[in-house]
Amino acid sequence: MANGVWNWTFLLCLLAGRASGGAGTLASPKGVYNSSTTPTDLPWNTYNYCNAPHVNVEHYIPPRNAPDAKLVYLNTVIRHHKRTPDNLYPNENELNSMPWDCANFEQFNYGGGGAHVFHKTVSPPWHPFLSQIWNGTCDEGQLTEGGLQDSIRHGQDFWSVYHHELGFLTSVSQQDIFIRTSTETRTFQVASGLLVGMDPGMASKTFPVTTQPSPIDSIPPSYPCPNADAIRTAFQSVPAWTDHLEANADLKARLDATLGTAGLDAWASWYDHFFDTFSSRTCNGHPLPCNSTGACVSQADAAKVFAIGDFEYNYIWNAAENATAYSQLDFGVFMLELAQNFKLFRSGQDPYKLRLYVGHDGTMIRLAALLGLGAIAPLRWPALGSELVMEVWESGKERFVRVIHEGLPVTSELAWTPLDAFIERLEKQVPANIMQACLGT
Ligand SMILES: *[C@@H]1O[C@H](CO)[C@@H](O)[C@H](O)[C@H]1NC(C)=O
Ligand SMILES: *[C@@H]1O[C@H](CO)[C@@H](O)[C@H](O)[C@H]1NC(C)=O
Ligand SMILES: *[C@@H]1O[C@H](CO)[C@@H](O)[C@H](O)[C@H]1NC(C)=O
Ligand SMILES: *[C@@H]1O[C@H](CO)[C@@H](O)[C@H](O)[C@H]1NC(C)=O
Repeated sequence: MANGVWNWTFLLCLLAGRASGGAGTLASPKGVYNSSTTPTDLPWNTYNYCNAPHVNVEHYIPPRNAPDAKLVYLNTVIRHHKRTPDNLYPNENELNSMPWDCANFEQFNYGGGGAHVFHKTVSPPWHPFLSQIWNGTCDEGQLTEGGLQDSIRHGQDFWSVYHHELGFLTSVSQQDIFIRTSTETRTFQVASGLLVGMDPGMASKTFPVTTQPSPIDSIPPSYPCPNADAIRTAFQSVPAWTDHLEANADLKARLDATLGTAGLDAWASWYDHFFDTFSSRTCNGHPLPCNSTGACVSQADAAKVFAIGDFEYNYIWNAAENATAYSQLDFGVFMLELAQNFKLFRSGQDPYKLRLYVGHDGTMIRLAALLGLGAIAPLRWPALGSELVMEVWESGKERFVRVIHEGLPVTSELAWTPLDAFIERLEKQVPANIMQACLGT
């Protein structure tokens, strides 16, 4: 967890204005942002924004404190894998030196009983609004072929542990495995990749994923919660937040000049959109944006944006005064679902061995924060493919939960906690009368 600490030092320098001298005085945050493959000279569990480290047989650590324990239940939550940018510059087309290609796997979407229709996105050269989107065959926020491959590999690694190593999951079957996703296509597609990674035979089979109606979905979350929004607005109005915007005004001005984003609120209130539009490019082998007069976003500025992104995510969901109250309102419905899962299991009534969720960065950061992982070290922006595994082990007559984050057991009491205590912990994160707490005056 030295990464987080290191980042804090870096950020404090930024805030103190000591890093304004440019790349010379500024180290990049520790991490990989330009490849799904972590270079072999770095530790396997290095933060890789493009493809997070996850449970795999080579590095899986069994519970050493209880060698006779048996795995009996599993809940896993992951973020989808890499995709095209989810945010667009006003003159998006100009800021791409190469087209985006999404024609390399078929985008199926058809009604059961109907023909197997798939859609092909095309940016027509003649389209009067072409300046607003890149050339090629991708929509915004679309899983790329590299992202699909990463999800297949993720499924293989998952299976290498929970099937081959532990023999817990015996086959990829609808009886044993429940999958829930958000309503975004990329989360269905990642589920399909995971399944094929677990069992290549799934490529020719169907498998259901469950979603909630989008207006009330608890992943990413999207149910309405104005009282949570108000808490966030308040803690993003104090110096603990606004200072970093002021301290980086030079950076922001440079980015605006190159990217045409001056005066746009969505690009000024936080660095989220810059982070997304840079990392989506670099993770997928595209260069950082260059505009039509040949000016480009520099590596050093991108590195600053990545570090600021970590600061902002940690602040909003972990460090801010009232961050916990915010997340409890905003994500309590998901925590309720988790608590229900574990209670159902405890009463012997969960028919599933594995409940698997595919969500978003917003899902992962809230879950990590509400599980208290931010108390161990500052939280970083949840990488693509970020993973939280909640294992239940049976030892004698007792059951324990073990939480594994980005491939390694956590170093808090969640490394081994009685099932009852874990359930209690989940339930504590669910505000009473949550709908009223979100909407009431
Ligand atoms: C990724 O970035 C690192 C550090 O900036 C650099 O050394 C490496 O060559 C880059 N790799 C690719 C594939 O661009
Ligand atoms: C994008 O397509 C337009 C229209 O065909 C073309 O003028 C432009 O050069 C293309 N840009 C890139 C980067 O390929
Ligand atoms: C946190 O919430 C309390 C109680 O509502 C409020 O008084 C305080 O101003 C909030 N702090 C911030 C930083 O928004
Ligand atoms: C390109 O970026 C440079 C440097 O930031 C800026 O001066 C110029 O106006 C930009 N050109 C366009 C067309 O946006």
